[in-house]
Amino acid sequence: MAEWVRVADVADCAEDGCLRAVRGNGEAIVLARWEGEFFALEDCCSHQDFPLSDGELENGRIECVFHGAKFDVRTGKAVQLPALKPVRTFPVEIRGDGVFVQIE
Ligand code: FES
Repeated sequence: MAEWVRVADVADCAEDGCLRAVRGNGEAIVLARWEGEFFALEDCCSHQDFPLSDGELENGRIECVFHGAKFDVRTGKAVQLPALKPVRTFPVEIRGDGVFVQIE
């Protein structure tokens, strides 16, 4: 059953371009902030399981620093090789000063 889990404070990811590794219910999640919105994706590149939280967020895409694959921060879709498969995304809500992610 899906559950909303507080994974961070808004202040933990205060600026656009922020990527932060968090955990929720045992899931490794990368929290991203882009154009004032928060996004949450599986913190694991679909190419070779490298943490996306070690990468960079530019132009709405997270770049994996290992081999340069890029993922759309909104959809998790792979938009640059060598990754072909998307990464999972999670719904995000801001409640007060907290960032909550919905996890199955
Ligand atoms: S592990 Fe991410 S591009 Fe290869």
